[in-house]
Amino acid sequence: MTNPVITALDVSDREAMRSLIKQLAPFGGVFKLGLEMFVGFGPEIVREVIEGGGKVMLDLKLHDIPNTVKKAARNAGLLGAELLTVHASGGSAMLKAAVEGVRESGSRTKVLAVTVLTSIDEETLRNELGVGKSVLDQVKSLALLAKESGVDGVVCSPKEITAIRECCGPDFLIVTPGIRPKGSAVGDQKRIKTPSEAIADGANYIVVGRPITEANSPAGAMQDILNEIENAK
Ligand code: C5P
Repeated sequence: MTNPVITALDVSDREAMRSLIKQLAPFGGVFKLGLEMFVGFGPEIVREVIEGGGKVMLDLKLHDIPNTVKKAARNAGLLGAELLTVHASGGSAMLKAAVEGVRESGSRTKVLAVTVLTSIDEETLRNELGVGKSVLDQVKSLALLAKESGVDGVVCSPKEITAIRECCGPDFLIVTPGIRPKGSAVGDQKRIKTPSEAIADGANYIVVGRPITEANSPAGAMQDILNEIENAK
């Protein structure tokens, strides 16, 4: 089976990152590199993960005019990212431009859209952003917009998986963070699901950070998660 676990590499130390890649690359999964790592270490960090045998989810959450996003997406494709994130709220022209950009690069990079950040609640949507819908309705309409614009999937919270799977169909990729294996520290995550619950709900990939990266044995933690998913089938 394809490894559905995307390891969030939120580490500030490059040596620690190298060690994690060495231990985890044999599982064949994807590593998520976010803005912090990308801005801190530069684009060569993507090449470093790939050279270490890992695939990369480049979580840059692009949001700009279509022409700029197209060129940035093209560059992400040239870097060899497997997955690239953009903001669905950039609109259909921007989303189409992102898809066009990765296509132009000739790479197989898939574009994922972020809908409503989990840090934004209904009050903020209404009072600050002028959106009168519930968070879930806004998430669903942005997910549909992304799908209709040719985007491959979305990143969403575990509690949104079922609704998105229902409105966007079986072929749309769903990637979800907010995952905690049974018994691991919840930390600052508020609405969590276990790996097998998220997969059973319809997620294609789960993003897991600290439960793997801060484990005594990251490889052991990865194997436990894969076992949990396999045993729940
Ligand atoms: O360590 P942890 O498993 O909580 O890491 C989850 C990763 O997913 C982090 O990189 C975090 O920024 C990201 N993320 C999240 N919740 C969101 C969006 C992104 O945890 N709503």
